[in-house]
Amino acid sequence: MVITRRALLRRLGAGAVVGVAVPFLGCISHAEGRQLPGARHVGGPVLLNRNENAYGPSEKVLAAMREALSLIHRFPRKASDILQGEIAIRHAVKPDQVVLGCGSTEILRMAAAAFLGPGKTLVLAAPSFDVITYYARGTGADVVAVPLTKRYAHDLDAMAHRTDTSTSLVYICNPNNPTGTLTPRGDLELFMRKLPTTVHVVVDEAYHHYVGGSSTYASFIDHPIDDSRVIITRTFSKIHGLAGSRIGYAIASSPVARRLSSYRLLDGVNVVAANAALAALDDVEHLRTSAQRNTDDREEFFNQANARMLRTIDSHTNFVMLNAGRPAEELVEHFEKNNIFLPRPVGAMSNYVRVSLGTAAEMVEFWHVWDLLPPPKMSM
Ligand SMILES: Cc1ncc(COP(=O)(O)O)c(C=O)c1O
Repeated sequence: MVITRRALLRRLGAGAVVGVAVPFLGCISHAEGRQLPGARHVGGPVLLNRNENAYGPSEKVLAAMREALSLIHRFPRKASDILQGEIAIRHAVKPDQVVLGCGSTEILRMAAAAFLGPGKTLVLAAPSFDVITYYARGTGADVVAVPLTKRYAHDLDAMAHRTDTSTSLVYICNPNNPTGTLTPRGDLELFMRKLPTTVHVVVDEAYHHYVGGSSTYASFIDHPIDDSRVIITRTFSKIHGLAGSRIGYAIASSPVARRLSSYRLLDGVNVVAANAALAALDDVEHLRTSAQRNTDDREEFFNQANARMLRTIDSHTNFVMLNAGRPAEELVEHFEKNNIFLPRPVGAMSNYVRVSLGTAAEMVEFWHVWDLLPPPKMSM
């Protein structure tokens, strides 16, 4: 049975307060004349640097968050247990296969703590989402970063080659951040079969909902394989628009989930985030329209880039890698002076800038500021 957020509040004993107007944090801040750093106001910064959902969560999710404030004086255990159960139902797994985290970042930290340590090695692609390397090094483990292929997929042959007896964890980001590209599902399965039985694999599906119909992509949650070493992570920070509430989860085999959970922060998922996530899971229509809007926004981005004869990497996410035709660092500084924030370039892709898709109005601003750029310096 799927539990609605109202039912959650009833089960938590707060039915009587549903509907009570609770001031929303953003409003309090504005009323006091203070501006939250990421809050968008006319003339405020345009944040195209962290692949957030610029449109924010659905109205239903915002309402669920306000309602959950009535429970803020209680510890969140029951709320997070209910969310864990709901996620299990939706993915047709047992509740003990679901691990909740303070963002999927916490799951990455748990995986590093559970499977790495001195003398052990993490293998991942480069460039990729490398937060896990920070936690890996913290455990005393080594990190092996293997360049992507020319088509910006994980170079699975090279990764297999770099795997040895010290390797205990492999991290795969699919679609990949920062390139927005896919690694074919068939290749991933072959790769996993080749790995020694002692190696666990994290498959990060943070951008899963943006993929749409690609014949080479299939989620490891929606189409699982019979391999107890695979840990799949998802987040509510992207399409659900809940980056600020810090909530994500992993699906794993029961023993692996238990091992991960032993490193979790107890009561680390707060009641507002849990209720928001529950409402987000219920709001299937919002998910569908958000994915469609992202496809349209991405298409428009490609149109604008083509009109300027700029090179891009085909994206399956809510961001696009754009070849700046110059050191991207210069570009980032130019945009920053114009109040638009982009991430610093990474590693070997120093001419590329990763642009998160903002609202339609923000992207108009982006292209306006692009057109103010001086022509690139010609190298002699
Ligand atoms: C691939 C990937 N995984 C995980 C995360 C972190 O997500 P969360 O907010 O759930 O910690 C991000 C954030 O940008 C990401 O790009």
